[in-house]
Amino acid sequence: MSEILQVEKINSYYGKSHILFDVNLVVQEGKTLCLMGRNGAGKTTTFKSIMMVVPPKTGKVYFQGKDITGYKTYQLARMGLGLVPEDRRIFSPLTVKENLIIGMSTGRKGIWNINMIYEFFPVLKEFESRPGGTLSGGEQQMLTIARTLMGNPAVLLLDEPTEGLSPVMVKTLKDLVLKLKDVGTTILLSEQNIKFAMAVSDYVAIIDKGHIRYESDIETFKMNDEIKKQYLAV
Ligand SMILES: Nc1ncnc2c1ncn2[C@@H]1O[C@H](COP(=O)(O)OP(=O)(O)OP(=O)(O)O)[C@@H](O)[C@H]1O
Ligand SMILES: [Mg+2]
Repeated sequence: MSEILQVEKINSYYGKSHILFDVNLVVQEGKTLCLMGRNGAGKTTTFKSIMMVVPPKTGKVYFQGKDITGYKTYQLARMGLGLVPEDRRIFSPLTVKENLIIGMSTGRKGIWNINMIYEFFPVLKEFESRPGGTLSGGEQQMLTIARTLMGNPAVLLLDEPTEGLSPVMVKTLKDLVLKLKDVGTTILLSEQNIKFAMAVSDYVAIIDKGHIRYESDIETFKMNDEIKKQYLAV
């Protein structure tokens, strides 16, 4: 097993507000690590710190063995960090297909191309000529994930993908993530939906008030009701 992404003792701030405190994370190639935590715990800030949208003030981020601290966000996308942000920014006037083509701008080669995407996301094939903005929230979530995959990332960063989705869409997303794992995708996920996280993850880390409070494999986490009560909304 090899470590593809490592976050080492990062401290991140918004202005003078200290948000992340010595955060450590390790993502193994081909595995799914879920960062869990309540609203405001620091999940998105961790993702933004990895992508250098909010560069950590101290600490390091390593990707494929390389120190990427201080790199530019666009460089990281080209190197293979594929972020699906929490706010699902699709290009509303552009068609579904045009949105997908934009995802290729990383210039990276790999298993993902438009045909493979349509195989994994039949609904996007059906709606390929529709403006992205006319899709439902759940369909737009699928489109943002698909667009990121079109860039053939080495690590897919999914920031709270189930947020605001109907139970049916959550199920569709679960099946999708399981299929992505089958083709070897490495995923860093953030979630508050424990059931979803337990269904798709190999490891979990819990963040609370910017501190990592717990880490384990998913089976150990499943049996630990105490930790779920303490740090997650159950
Ligand atoms: N742009 C910002 N400026 C100042 N403080 C911010 C900013 N963005 C987030 N914060 C604060 O940083 C802390 C962590 O926020 P973050 O968005 O990382 O949490 P989260 O775990 O992603 O929460 P959620 O589940 O609601 O998305 C919160 O206290 C939040 O208010
Ligand atoms: Mg968030």
